[in-house]
Amino acid sequence: MVKETNSARETIKLGKNLGSNLKPGEILALSGQLGAGKTTLIQGIAEGLGVKDYVTSPTFILINEYQGRLPFYHIDLYRLEDPEQIEELGISEYFEKDGIVVIEWAERMGEQLPESAKQIKIEVVDENKRKIWLSWE
Ligand SMILES: Nc1ncnc2c1ncn2[C@@H]1O[C@H](COP(=O)(O)OP(=O)(O)O)[C@@H](O)[C@H]1O
Ligand SMILES: [Mg+2]
Repeated sequence: MVKETNSARETIKLGKNLGSNLKPGEILALSGQLGAGKTTLIQGIAEGLGVKDYVTSPTFILINEYQGRLPFYHIDLYRLEDPEQIEELGISEYFEKDGIVVIEWAERMGEQLPESAKQIKIEVVDENKRKIWLSWE
């Protein structure tokens, strides 16, 4: 299903709804251009999961771990330099942890993305409007 949001706030609200309904072991694979709103949506998901200390500031760390109602792992592959890093970082281990894993630039996972991952694609319509496609709804 495709949802439309007209502000970052609306995207956060959508994320919050998603976050409240996630179950242990779920993987969300996000794609969309730089500035599409992936991190913004994830901020909402973190809120919905009850994460208190979520930080959106730019970081060179590829994996951030948080604790909410469930463990929450935010993986951002924007700065991935080499597909081999996916193995080096041990990303597949996070899929076994019974937490929630969200991945920005998930298309960079290639074949290493589990088939069970739920896809979210964000498209920029204009400055404040986004189309957000949820593969499972
Ligand atoms: N409807 C919207 N949904 C999400 N972000 C929006 C929306 N409208 C404007 N924005 C702005 O777009 C930017 C999205 O940035 P960010 O979430 O970091 O994108 P990404 O992680 O995809 O690179 C933010 O500055 C946000 O305020
Ligand atoms: Mg981002």
